[in-house]
Amino acid sequence: MTRKIIRLFPVLLIATALTAGCSAIPGQKEEVKSLKIGISVYDQYDTFISEEISQLKAYAKEKEQEWDITITVEVQDANKVQLTQNDQMDDFIRRGFDIACINLVDRTDASSIIEKAKIAGVPVIFFNRELVEEDLQRWDHLYYVGADAFESGILQGEILAEACEKDFPSIDRNGDGVIQYVMLEGEAGHQDSMVRTLYVINTLKEKGFQVEKLGDEIANWNRAQAETKMNQFLKNFGDQIEVVLANNDDMALGAVDSLKKILGSKRQASEDGHPWPVVIGIDGTKVGLEALQAGELLGTVLNDAKGQAISMLELARSVVMHTELPDDIKLIDGKYIRLPYQKVTEENVNEIMWDMQIKNQ
Ligand code: BGC
Repeated sequence: MTRKIIRLFPVLLIATALTAGCSAIPGQKEEVKSLKIGISVYDQYDTFISEEISQLKAYAKEKEQEWDITITVEVQDANKVQLTQNDQMDDFIRRGFDIACINLVDRTDASSIIEKAKIAGVPVIFFNRELVEEDLQRWDHLYYVGADAFESGILQGEILAEACEKDFPSIDRNGDGVIQYVMLEGEAGHQDSMVRTLYVINTLKEKGFQVEKLGDEIANWNRAQAETKMNQFLKNFGDQIEVVLANNDDMALGAVDSLKKILGSKRQASEDGHPWPVVIGIDGTKVGLEALQAGELLGTVLNDAKGQAISMLELARSVVMHTELPDDIKLIDGKYIRLPYQKVTEENVNEIMWDMQIKNQ
């Protein structure tokens, strides 16, 4: 039944285009020359997501000429409300969008969007907030683009382990042989926060380091919330904190904001005898990379916003226009595209900054 709908899809599209008053002339066989992508993000103010969207728009602009098609990218903000996002899916369907890219508000609540997509025959690429596999299997034309969260936790652990191997006393400031840390976590229930929190610590332990958790707080990926949590950590534990591990760069930067306000700049704090703890993030957002260049972060792990954006657009084109995916983009099990993470430290930060910049804007 649903297969029938997808087979009818090009026909439905042309019919929609005609009723919408497009220039196709009845009786003439005209190739579909446009790709309309409706995107709904869980929160437009999320730094990582907004960078991913900017990358996608830039790539769409770049490819329009090469592919000789018009690409429309419309982004709607679900404002953290799943019901709003469900309505946005209805809107994309009603207005004849070819495909939807959905950054779920609630990754455990994809049912409504999946049902709507199936009935209307509009494929969906979910991204960044990973739905459970059973949901993704509910229709052939559901896909997921993202990364493997566990890898980012491992790499974050490796960054710290390598720094410890180089100069342990500069990190283990009280010299007790144990790394005292605080953790800033993303949203509860988000695959990335759960897995990153677990794997970074497992990695350190596997590498033979002893660790002691002083505190662990949820800051919902958010810089301001992380600053508040870090203020509290500093109040409770002060100089005992040797390392701040953050599930993303924005929260790492929230910790830096707090350190700056409470202890003063990194140099000042060190001169005053209260040196900053080491801070490590994940994402490699522009602000994150800048903080790394400024020496405020020890490192971060690149969550490849650009690669994920490119993959989404290529997949959208391939699904709607039946083109081949480029060789370097692998669709695993006909469903998943996962981009690798990468460690970023002062050694490669300039190079990563260059790679991630958005050209032609
Ligand atoms: C990113 C976070 C972002 C979150 C949103 C994660 O993969 O690392 O920065 O806030 O996705 O879902």
